[in-house]
Amino acid sequence: MSIELQNDIKYAKSILDNECHDKFRKIYTNTNEDLSLLFSQLDLSDKNILTVLSSSDYLYMSYLFGAKRVDCFDINPLTFRLFYLRKWLINNNIIDIGFCSYEDVIRVLMNMEKTNTDNEKESLLFWKEVLSKMGESDFYHNRLFTTIFNPFNSFYKDKLVNLSKILSYVNPTFYSFDICDNLGINIDKRYDFIFLSNVLDYNRSRESLDAAFNNLLPLVDKQGKIVCAHISQIANEDFTQVLDLEKKVFQDAFEYSHIIASDENQPIHYYQYTKK
Ligand SMILES: C[S@@+](CC[C@H](N)C(=O)[O-])C[C@H]1O[C@@H](n2cnc3c(N)ncnc32)[C@H](O)[C@@H]1O
Repeated sequence: MSIELQNDIKYAKSILDNECHDKFRKIYTNTNEDLSLLFSQLDLSDKNILTVLSSSDYLYMSYLFGAKRVDCFDINPLTFRLFYLRKWLINNNIIDIGFCSYEDVIRVLMNMEKTNTDNEKESLLFWKEVLSKMGESDFYHNRLFTTIFNPFNSFYKDKLVNLSKILSYVNPTFYSFDICDNLGINIDKRYDFIFLSNVLDYNRSRESLDAAFNNLLPLVDKQGKIVCAHISQIANEDFTQVLDLEKKVFQDAFEYSHIIASDENQPIHYYQYTKK
């Protein structure tokens, strides 16, 4: 058992035992955004992407919209374990509003016959161990997950076979770090798009914005974009103040643009920084 797996199991147990109070300890089981609306505004064909992992939906959608390669990061290492769990559910044609049932998860785990990579194999061990500690009621009572009723999952309905095919050859690189770490992060790659959903807006101090800027700048290719979505608080005065501060931090190197992806019922706001 690798050190990472031991650490992840320990971390999950500390969450289940209420001994962990990290702000981002709970895993989003599925997106809380209408990502099809956002993604239909972007040209991802053949692009290299870095995305916050969270529920994995940004990663799945990036591939469905033609990305060449998608790497991912998250401050919460358990999001990478969720990526595999959702992948197996998708392989089994299971996708539901609000994650899926405990029985489905157990059945899928028990029937897993083959894993393709060490990460996948270890994730299977992770879920078997953690679910044996969780039991059905913990599963439904949001101890480890932020389970969201999600009408947007219906987008996948006729795309599951395609997504399952794509995921069979995808082996994402995952970085477990805080993008606002002022000690820096270690990635020697450049991306056409970086997706941050509720990342900068949750990390609001000048110090963390400066650190995020320094970490992100070398990762963005020429004319590349940092897309910040799910800005539900756009009309909120507090948020506008933080956004003004954030724009100042990014303005020398990036062009800011506020975008509205239109939908008759619910327009979504997002903004992007394009590297000058
Ligand atoms: C509110 S969730 C975003 C959910 C998203 N709308 C989705 O569709 O999945 C924010 C995610 O960003 C991660 N996160 C927040 N701040 C971060 C940081 N400074 N560095 C890395 N990841 C961070 C959290 O762990 C969480 O997975």
